Amino acid sequence: MYPERPLPDALERISGRRSVKAMDLTEPGPDEATLQTILTTALRVPDHGKLGPWRMVIFSGNDRAAFGDVLAKRWQSLHPEANEAQISFEKNRFMRAPVVVAVLSERSPEHKIPEWEQILSAGAVCQNLLIAASLAGFAAQWLTEWYTYDAHVQSLFEIGDHEDIAGFIYLGSAASKPDERPRPEPPSRIQHWHAQNGA
Ligand SMILES: Cc1cc2nc3c(=O)[nH]c(=O)nc-3n(C[C@H](O)[C@H](O)[C@H](O)COP(=O)(O)O)c2cc1C
Repeated sequence: MYPERPLPDALERISGRRSVKAMDLTEPGPDEATLQTILTTALRVPDHGKLGPWRMVIFSGNDRAAFGDVLAKRWQSLHPEANEAQISFEKNRFMRAPVVVAVLSERSPEHKIPEWEQILSAGAVCQNLLIAASLAGFAAQWLTEWYTYDAHVQSLFEIGDHEDIAGFIYLGSAASKPDERPRPEPPSRIQHWHAQNGA
């Protein structure tokens, strides 16, 4: 049988998964081999047309602080009145987690596969990343925050005309289990289609 059944542990982990706020993420992060496993697993998404309409940029070690310097400078230029605390927060933004992964949605608008489907595939990469991290024993959060939409920050990723940052996935360990958050009741979002009037 494919896939093999049952997989109760994976289902339990996924159905109980919660994001952990970046500020509550801590060491250890995944080691290099585990990170590669998480990232390659994340890229195994449905992709209509085999376009691979996504890419990732990894921030780890000292590069997180270096990127924080860039964010702080940009924040200061946008907000000359910014105080020391705000500038320091920007400097340390990427230090909140051991690893930060930027996921970019890179579309081919001229392709017959609708752009919307290419965007969905990038969203699937992000969610797969959260799930793979969780199954590997790590906590994560998908954030966009201001820098995702900032033209200067985007230029550092050499963002093309048909490209966007889908988000930044912060990865690490959580000191404690996060509380549950209110969610829509699944039955309110799930319905069966019934044939009516001979349709
Ligand atoms: C595309 C996207 C961007 C998000 N950006 C932010 C953000 O900038 N700040 C934030 O607090 N939460 C943001 N979130 C929400 C969190 O990632 C997460 O959904 C929320 O904390 C609850 O997560 P959970 O249902 O996985 O526990 C974003 C979610 C998505 C899907």
